[in-house]
Amino acid sequence: MKYAIETHDLVKVYDNGFKAVDNLDLFVEEKTIGGILGPNGAGKTTTIKMLTCLIPKTSGEAKVAGYDVSKQPDEVRNRIGMVPQLVSLYNDLTVRENVELCADFYNVDQSIKDKKIDDLLELVDIKYAEDKYVKQLSGGMQQKTSVVASLVHNPDILFLDEPTVGLDPTTKRVLWDLMVELNDEGRTIILCSHDMYEVDKICDNINIIDAGKVVANDTPQGLKDQLLHNMEENNQQIRKSILKLEQEGIDENRETINGLKSSLTDESEIVTVMVSNINDDMINALDDLDVVNKVDFLGNGRLIISLKRSETSVNHVITTILNQGGNIASIKTNDPTLEDVFVAITAKHRKEIKHGN
Ligand SMILES: Nc1ncnc2c1ncn2[C@@H]1O[C@H](COP(=O)(O)OP(=O)(O)OP(=O)(O)O)[C@@H](O)[C@H]1O
Ligand SMILES: [Mg+2]
Repeated sequence: MKYAIETHDLVKVYDNGFKAVDNLDLFVEEKTIGGILGPNGAGKTTTIKMLTCLIPKTSGEAKVAGYDVSKQPDEVRNRIGMVPQLVSLYNDLTVRENVELCADFYNVDQSIKDKKIDDLLELVDIKYAEDKYVKQLSGGMQQKTSVVASLVHNPDILFLDEPTVGLDPTTKRVLWDLMVELNDEGRTIILCSHDMYEVDKICDNINIIDAGKVVANDTPQGLKDQLLHNMEENNQQIRKSILKLEQEGIDENRETINGLKSSLTDESEIVTVMVSNINDDMINALDDLDVVNKVDFLGNGRLIISLKRSETSVNHVITTILNQGGNIASIKTNDPTLEDVFVAITAKHRKEIKHGN
């Protein structure tokens, strides 16, 4: 397996003594879209700055496209593009002049330069403003210019640090499509973001960073599955404790038992089913299922069903509706979102830090 990004024990201590990146082991496979998530101050931008040779590392090892950021910075710079968290364009130059400056910095061949710039400006829909000064642009237009400038030398690896902050929903989609398109062309994309929907939608793999360390790494679905698994394990432990306390005598342990019961997390899941021909028999049959806690009929063919979480619960619901001659138009479950994963993992890590683990 080839990595576009590979760090071992990477450390950054700033001049004031603050350790922003703490023995970080980060891997992003070549030709994938790798997401980097983490709370404010987790060390994401610091890591990206080291990987893009903007600031020196304190210790450890960091390789980008197989080249060492300290020993072969020019090789690294030639293969990367960067859309920084804070747009860094020249305000007194026009959009086109900014992009040309970047092209010249990277020695883009003069014979293809103009066409390349035209194509990129068209691609992100900013060509109409190419002669405007950057200081005259809206935030979204500046961001688009920044993206064009980062791509003009055809980099293999593109770093984007919160690129869609403040963009309108349509422009966001333009950038998402662009990232996917660039990835389809074989480029690696490193995306730092707080937008969970964005990360879930386009990333192949995610590293969650907290306090300068990787605290989770998996595919978006893998992270969600892990959360469900952890919740289930946690609940099993709690149920065992409840059982033990109940055997010892409910009266003396009532308060603890109630406390434990309230800490059982999300044992149920909500499923929304649209059925075009709901009738009372169907609702009663669903209500009779062991896996069903509650059925609500909201009119307009919408059933909201609270289920006991299990691998087969949804199957039972579908089979019952079909057996009753129901026509299912759509079915939606409220599985955990990436935001749930993020909150659970970072909260757990903070707790561990607090208790000195
Ligand atoms: N030049 C600096 N000198 C000292 N400390 C710094 C410097 N730059 C950043 N830090 C600190 O390093 C930590 C990590 O900052 P960084 O910008 O990498 O976080 P981040 O994960 O990108 O956060 P955000 O999501 O807010 O962008 C923070 O505590 C920050 O205050
Ligand atoms: Mg940042």
